[in-house]
Amino acid sequence: MFSQRRDRFFDSLGASAAVIPAAPMVTHHADCEYPFRQNSDFWYLTGFDEPDAVALFLAHRPEGERFVLFVHPSSSEEEVWNGARSGVEGATSLYGADFAHPLSELPQRLGDYLEGADQIAFRVGKHPHIEKFVLKVWTQQLDQAPRTGASAFSLIAPCPLLHNLRLRKTPDEIVRIKEAARISAEAHELARDMTAPGVNERTVQALIEKHFLEQGARGPAYGSIVAGGDNACVLHYTANNNVLKDGDLLLVDAGCSLVDYYNADITRTFPINGKFTGEQYVLYELVLEAQQKAIASVSPGHKAEEVHQTAVRVLVEGLVDLGLLQGSVDGLLEQQAYRHLYMHRTGHWLGLDVHDVGAYRLGDYSIALEPGMVLTVEPGLYISDRLPISGGQPQIDEKWKGIGIRIEDDVVVTPEGNEVLTSAALSGIKSMQR
Ligand code: GLY
Ligand code: MN
Ligand code: MN
Repeated sequence: MFSQRRDRFFDSLGASAAVIPAAPMVTHHADCEYPFRQNSDFWYLTGFDEPDAVALFLAHRPEGERFVLFVHPSSSEEEVWNGARSGVEGATSLYGADFAHPLSELPQRLGDYLEGADQIAFRVGKHPHIEKFVLKVWTQQLDQAPRTGASAFSLIAPCPLLHNLRLRKTPDEIVRIKEAARISAEAHELARDMTAPGVNERTVQALIEKHFLEQGARGPAYGSIVAGGDNACVLHYTANNNVLKDGDLLLVDAGCSLVDYYNADITRTFPINGKFTGEQYVLYELVLEAQQKAIASVSPGHKAEEVHQTAVRVLVEGLVDLGLLQGSVDGLLEQQAYRHLYMHRTGHWLGLDVHDVGAYRLGDYSIALEPGMVLTVEPGLYISDRLPISGGQPQIDEKWKGIGIRIEDDVVVTPEGNEVLTSAALSGIKSMQR
């Protein structure tokens, strides 16, 4: 799988050489580190899960000399503290590198490897430890070009090439996203079962994350959001330390990340005591309708932008009918005069990153959906005193306040239309009630 990805990347590189660094360890505090999280670009091309490594993709070289890894070498002293390393040996025998070297040799070897490439593909500004070596090699090539007659004359960003590949998932990748979706959907069902007035948000979080770990996932894909009542109107609420109140809704936005980093991203919102109030019910129905219509617009040839436009139109029509917005639907949409109630986009690509890579637009044109693309569809409504009401809009009656609703599913574009990967987490209005 990784070798096929490299082949596709080599095809897109032409005669360029790419330098793709792994992630470093990140300090949490003092000498304690966060759990290691590999750089998704590096992972996608190598499957190598150790820090600080550097991969070279030398498309200007013949086959058999094109994939080079610089890695931390085996060291019994280091491995006692931090676990086994693959070492230089493993980089070739286990990970398919044509050549591998200790990291310490990068500065003296990089120049030889990059010689003869038309361009150097390296993301400037993200990897300061490696950037200085790449720029030094390039500077030397340019300085010597009048005599050698050859140099890479441009430094390009690898992202458009690589992220174009990552945007279109292969069947193996869809299988993994489905596994993340299965585990995450089960966790949401467990969360709803145990929710009741008096339970703390963090107890629900703990149950969800316990399920992720028990099912073999690495853990949460992002800070789990377990937000009762008005807390749901803070879009990235992760404090999760309040007691759930009778009569409020609970919004849970949580998904797991697998050992190979594929993610799910699900949001469900339901009444804590099992019964919607009248206001909660009509708003939930409206968000659900917006989501269902938006999901129906996911199919090959439709634009990514249409998914958002579909959801936002349903929401604005419903809010006008309820008296929460006033004006013509087209005018409200044009002026975005709904943004005090719905302030985020309706979705994002999903893959190795939760907010996955890949363009949504090319200049003025929205990307057309293609089979294999995976996106979230996650409309919501948030009614709170926290945000000022935009000019010309009606004051909101107290009875609506403290309601935050989002419904989020993960959807893959198929040749026929789409498949919702997360429907095992129920969202129908009846299943939200007890
Ligand atoms: N959980 C982050 C998001 O829904 O985009
Ligand atoms: Mn999302
Ligand atoms: Mn989410």
